[in-house]
Amino acid sequence: MPVELQTEIEQAVASRRNFAIISHPDAGKTTLTEKLLLYGGAIHEAGAVKARREQRKATSDWMEMEQQRGISITSTVLQFIYNQFQINLLDTPGHQDFSEDTYRTLAAADNSVMLIDAAKGLEPQTRKLFEVCQLRSLPIFTFVNKLDRPGRDAFELIDEIEQELGLQTYAVNWPIGMGDRFKGVFDRRQGKVHLFERRSHGSKAAGDTVIELDDPRLEEYLDSELYHQLKEELEILDEIGAEFDLERVHAGKMTPIFFGSAMTNFGVELFLKAFLEYAQMPESHNSSLGIIEPTYEEFTGFVFKLQANMDPKHRDRVAFIRVCTGKFEKDMTVQHARTGKTVRLSRPQKLFAQGRESLDEAFPGDIIGLNNPGVFAIGDTIYNGKKLEYEGIPCFSPEIFAYLKNPNPSKFKQFQKGITELREEGAIQVMYSTDDFKRDPILAAVGQLQIEVVQFRLQNEYNVETRIEPLPYSVARWVHGGWDALEKAGRIFNSISVKDNWGRPVLLFKNEWNLRQVEQDMPELKLNSIAPVG
Ligand code: G4P
Repeated sequence: MPVELQTEIEQAVASRRNFAIISHPDAGKTTLTEKLLLYGGAIHEAGAVKARREQRKATSDWMEMEQQRGISITSTVLQFIYNQFQINLLDTPGHQDFSEDTYRTLAAADNSVMLIDAAKGLEPQTRKLFEVCQLRSLPIFTFVNKLDRPGRDAFELIDEIEQELGLQTYAVNWPIGMGDRFKGVFDRRQGKVHLFERRSHGSKAAGDTVIELDDPRLEEYLDSELYHQLKEELEILDEIGAEFDLERVHAGKMTPIFFGSAMTNFGVELFLKAFLEYAQMPESHNSSLGIIEPTYEEFTGFVFKLQANMDPKHRDRVAFIRVCTGKFEKDMTVQHARTGKTVRLSRPQKLFAQGRESLDEAFPGDIIGLNNPGVFAIGDTIYNGKKLEYEGIPCFSPEIFAYLKNPNPSKFKQFQKGITELREEGAIQVMYSTDDFKRDPILAAVGQLQIEVVQFRLQNEYNVETRIEPLPYSVARWVHGGWDALEKAGRIFNSISVKDNWGRPVLLFKNEWNLRQVEQDMPELKLNSIAPVG
């Protein structure tokens, strides 16, 4: 490879950082995203991201929303530059559109930011997404938000993270007061206090007042009680807290914690600077040829998400590809590992906020969108040079189950075709009863919207009207060792067994409690919450 190209790739890798935000709805993801973009100069006035989201929310019919999204792809990745780093923020679908895509996006990220509402602490969606991060040993940076409002004690919050998630913490900064008495944070990296100035909504990037811990004015600024409390808390932290260990951070075993208030734009830049210092560069990936480093000379990547175009007149799909190695160039041809075909990557798109911009080149850690006339499936590898295949993207434990019925026998063929294609595309998982008389497919989804989208698309694209019969389960586990292991285990209470698309046994439970009961009573039965595809 020419030296210049090698250097170009190495430089691109060294200057790129990507991450996804994991949070529960309302923790402040939109607000934080917006403030981060503000620092990157990607938007000039806070409010732009939010306004778009509101627009989406305001569309009363969610299908219209989907249509709109299918065509314009709002924000799958947001790129911005800060201190010479190119930062790619991978947007994880949230709210009502929580789906397997949310999990899959994490498969394309090198870092994650766990955003927590200081008043609420850990919430269900955050816990679920955390588990997926753990499977990949993704570094997790924690931002505790909304300090300008009354919230829980900082020690209590870090204790919750340590105990519940089993994640060691290192507070990079520490809050001074909270709610009405929120005065700022102490940055333990520089040993300086950043004072909070209450102002409305912080629509511009803010400079903050920085003061030394031993500055005599500090006691006056903070008032005596908070001042002494801060000193005491810092001592406790030094005593009981772990030492900062970047290797453990990169292994996903220690989380650096930051406190702030995204809405008032406080603590965001401190966070961003530390993040850029500690975050992991575009990572190596495991493949059929072993570990492939990002600086490998040939272009390679994998598909982690497909976006259907909801407009029936344009039945194309956009495939989102994580660039793993090499340099992507517009119109290049690549090999498609699964089919062995040669594919020309024309009409590539850079995905940013307002729409699609065309893109000429991309490097490891970047995401590109390609129009996909049915070529790509989730997990597919594209490559140049030696043949290789990246580890696929697994099936994640679904939580919503329903029989899908086709009341019109004359539509049987279209129904089957639709279900097969939508499953292959990764829109939904499909399972089947073990009872031969119950032939209706069971739709298994992570979010309710997935089921609605499948019904909508069957009607629109395959002309099949369907009915849904919900099933009362909320937890699925694949049985390690297959049917033999299941048979050996004998009768399992409070659960039913079904087959996944590849005929493997899956146990469905009504709730976590029933699952835990079985795990306790039958320790020999090994159950998995994710499974490889096929
Ligand atoms: P999400 O994308 O995670 O769902 O959260 P989003 O940013 O929309 O924030 C949810 C609500 O929390 C918003 O209030 C937002 O203004 C508020 N919020 C976000 N960060 C902070 C913060 O640091 N401090 C305080 N006090 N509030 C915060 P809303 O009432 O839904 O919207 P709005 O009327 O404020 O725009």
